[in-house]
Amino acid sequence: MDFKRSDFPEAFQFGVATSSYQIEGHAFGGAGPTHWDSFAATPGNVVRAEHGQTACNHYNRLDEDLDLIAGANVDVYRFSTSWARVLPEGRGTPNPEGLDFYDRLVDGLLARGVKPAATLYHWELPSALADLGGWRNRDIAAWFGDFTEAIMGRIGDRIWSAAPINEPWCVGWLSHFLGHHAPGLRDIRATARAMHHVLLAHGTAIQAMRGLGMGNLGAVCNLEYANPADPSPGAAAAARLYDGYYNRFFLSGIFHKRYPEDVLEGLGPHMPKGWEDDFGVISEPVDWCGLNYYTRKNITPTDGPWPAHGEVEGPLPKTAMGWEIYPEGLYYFLKRTHEEYTRGLPLYVTENGMAAPDGVIDGAVPDPHRIDFLNSHLSAVQRALAEGVPVAGYYVWSLMDNYEWALGYEKRFGLVHVDFETLKRTPKASYHALAAALAR
Ligand code: FCB
Repeated sequence: MDFKRSDFPEAFQFGVATSSYQIEGHAFGGAGPTHWDSFAATPGNVVRAEHGQTACNHYNRLDEDLDLIAGANVDVYRFSTSWARVLPEGRGTPNPEGLDFYDRLVDGLLARGVKPAATLYHWELPSALADLGGWRNRDIAAWFGDFTEAIMGRIGDRIWSAAPINEPWCVGWLSHFLGHHAPGLRDIRATARAMHHVLLAHGTAIQAMRGLGMGNLGAVCNLEYANPADPSPGAAAAARLYDGYYNRFFLSGIFHKRYPEDVLEGLGPHMPKGWEDDFGVISEPVDWCGLNYYTRKNITPTDGPWPAHGEVEGPLPKTAMGWEIYPEGLYYFLKRTHEEYTRGLPLYVTENGMAAPDGVIDGAVPDPHRIDFLNSHLSAVQRALAEGVPVAGYYVWSLMDNYEWALGYEKRFGLVHVDFETLKRTPKASYHALAAALAR
């Protein structure tokens, strides 16, 4: 790597991130069914109809994986807690095996000197709650508050930091408007409701965790740089609207207690009754804000109903996701989030990384592309730090190759290679490079 730990502020936290459904193996340990299981079982939704029943079998390989985390010399491990593992029916009686699993995970991290950073929801909604309308149903905020108490009542005393929801845009827009993720809806009314209720659930969970005496609580949003595809005023307007419902909507709700006017032009008629009165809960103060950043999109106007725009392919080098590599966007968002929304709160890059078709060659996995990617994005972080943006940490997505949602197992984001036949883990060159850069 081009950097070492001492090139960053003393208290800067380096980490690796994963999520429950993507690695644990939901067939194990008494977890209940989730909307990702039924989404994946429906033809056409997921590449080769792959699902998370086994995933990386992290559930049964916990110690080995914890050793890998510690071996990377990181300070923090960002993981998520599966709602359906803790409460198989979404509500009611907890699954003792599920609670025990997260208890072992947290203790295993602490025993290895790694700080546990928990995300309460990284997308595997219990099927029983999906049956009740899932994120479309306002009651989900209270259900989520109860889940928060069930899991954090058990592990909250040892959690270093926690955030309720991973990426509200994905929960709302990607899953209810574009239909690319479970529950696979393409409906603007469902979208407006999900986008609002996910923030209401966020605030409710923050309140629940404060009630348990927890601190260091945050919000994690994914941001994508909206680049006008050409110099026309139409492309500029289209990009601005994309930026609105993707990036500004959630940050504005949490930090400004309102939604952007341009987004309300489209979503307003479909919002749930009384939404204007919910900002007291939504804006419950947080201690930090996390940004997940991967790429930019090139936006162009199209005919048709709101938001009347689309994406065109851009000229920059791309990852295996087809995503352009654009580290300037990370710098831009760190600065803008600080200046316009969080004004001094610590910012964390809670996810950043790339997919590549990495393979094992003679026992090693050369991934110089990933080392370059991490270098260029860490240099964007340094640029923001040099300009006074309080960036407090950076977490690589992901510790290991895993279930990349609708794209199945073929998009490899890991620092550690996983052979999905044998489940053997092989640290890639980027893992060794990061471990060397972070050695104390
Ligand atoms: C993020 C998700 C994470 C993973 C990466 C590639 O949006 O949080 O689960 O899919 O993208």
